[in-house]
Parts: sequence; structure tokens; C-alpha cells
Amino acid sequence: MTQTRKKKIGLIGGGQIGGNLALIAVQKSLGDVMLFDIPAAEGLVKGKALDINQLSAVDGYDCRVTGTTDWKDVAGSDVIIITAGVPRKPGMSREDLLDINLKIMRDVAANIKQHAPNAFVINVANPLDAMVFALQKISELPKHMVVGMAGVLDTSRFKFFVAEALGSSIRDVEALVLGGHGDDMVPLVRHTTVGGVPLTELLPQDKLEAIVKRTREGGAELVGLYKTGSAYFAPASSAISMAESFLLDRKRILPAAALLEGQYGINGYFFGVPVQIGAGGVEKILTPQLNDSEKAALEKSFQSVKKTVDSVKL
Ligand code: LMR
Repeated sequence: MTQTRKKKIGLIGGGQIGGNLALIAVQKSLGDVMLFDIPAAEGLVKGKALDINQLSAVDGYDCRVTGTTDWKDVAGSDVIIITAGVPRKPGMSREDLLDINLKIMRDVAANIKQHAPNAFVINVANPLDAMVFALQKISELPKHMVVGMAGVLDTSRFKFFVAEALGSSIRDVEALVLGGHGDDMVPLVRHTTVGGVPLTELLPQDKLEAIVKRTREGGAELVGLYKTGSAYFAPASSAISMAESFLLDRKRILPAAALLEGQYGINGYFFGVPVQIGAGGVEKILTPQLNDSEKAALEKSFQSVKKTVDSVKL
């Protein structure tokens, strides 16, 4: 009988998202988890690991979490999810986090390069599109092995608001949010369907515009509610859906910040577009047909991303 090796998942950052990531990874039996943070947070990661491991007996999960402050424990990870960094506070933009989170990313990316150069790496830290750009440049990982998480999160928010407005099951909502993870992201209203019926036939224009606005400001709405941090349940689930597609070679089409090389008229920047994620990492980049106003909205979103990325000093 051939024995398959249990997968290893490195979670960099033991905060709220990191803890949720560890829990979901174990509950889905995706692999053993290394929950990493800096020495000052040793108690936090060791505590979360022990707490989750004790929970594993309740439902019989066989994957284990290790809390660690040593990069050697992360070595050889199949997937790495980065949540290390500082969340914004009410009144701040994601771009306000650039300097502080870039400092952290420099160290994280260099360690990934040294200890886990074959991993599929998903970045969750903000400002997302700039952080994933820095991550890939510093780590020098192959471009198809590095992605940013936000498209799944933004699309999930959009779908939720649509389902809520219609009083319908979210299972029947098909939608896609393109672009950067910022206030001018592009929910593709015209492409959205509910049970196969175009959303534009189900809701009036003013309601559609309100949903688009709420989606664009979805992160800030939660920052305003939490006051001392940002969203952590939905971001964790979103990143896990990408990790799962890679680990199980599901080949799901998920919106992710991927390195574009000419697609959408963009070259050398990470930007939120639909991609196929399988055992090969980003296996395909898809380019849906856009009309002129969708193209213009996407260009606006790209210019915001470009401005932040161009200011990154590696
Ligand atoms: C989110 O969208 O929830 C995250 O990017 C966190 C934030 O600051 O909005």
C-alpha cells in the first residue's frame, strides 16, 4: 500500500485570521498546520495550537497544529498563507499600512525564499496588491506560485449582499468581483446571475448601486464595527478555498491577485482576475468579455493599484 504524505500548511501570523485559518484547515483535514509568529507572540501561537488540538478530539480531526516561532518548522510547507502585518483602524485606508507591512513582508518573503521555496503562497496582508507584488519580487518564487487572496473575499461579500437583498439562497448566486482590493474594485453586475437569471432583471438600478458600494466598502464597514481590527472570519475562509484548490488539485476558478503579463492590457503587476488554481498553482488566467464601462472601471482600479505598487521600495 502506498502511503501519501500528509500536507503541511504554514500560516505566517498568529492573529485573528491566523487562528481561524488553522481551525478551518484542521476541520477540513487539509494537512498539519504550522502556526508561526514572532517570539513576542509565542504564547499566542502555542495557546491557539493547543486549544485547536484539544478540539480535534470532539469531531475526530487527525491533523495537528503546532505553534512556533522558528522558521525551520515552516520549512517544506506545501502551502503558506501570510496574514502577518498590522490591520487598519477606523479612518485609515489600506494604503496607510504600506510602510509598516512592507517592513514585515521583507522579512517574511526572505524567509519563505530560504525555507519553503516550493510552496504555493497566498498573501492576505494589506495593501494586498502591493504586498503580493513585494512578496513575489523578494522571494523570487515562480510567478504562478504566488497569489493575493482578496477577490474571493470581495466576491463573497458581493454574493452575500445580493442574496440578502433578494431573500434567496446564496448558493444560486453566481458573481465575480474584478480588480484591486480597494474602494474602486469592480463587481461585475452585468455578469451576475441568480439561478441563471440575470441580476439586472431582479433588482432595480438603485439597489444594484447600493450593493456595489457596500461591497467596495466591505472591509471598512467591518473595521468600523470592530474598531480595533479588521475582518477575520471571511478572509480566513477565502484563503482556505484557494489553498484547498491547490492542495486537492480542484482546479477551481477563483478571483485572485495574480501576476499579469499582458492580459487585460496590464504587464508586471498583480491584479484581481479569475484564475484556475490547481496542483500547478495558477494554471490559467481567464479574461471575461468586458464592455466599455467595465473596462473603464477596471482601468480606474488598476491605476490605484499601480500608484501604490510604484511607490514600493523593495
Ligand atoms: C478586508 O477587506 O476585510 C481586509 O482587506 C481588511 C481591511 O482593512 O479592510
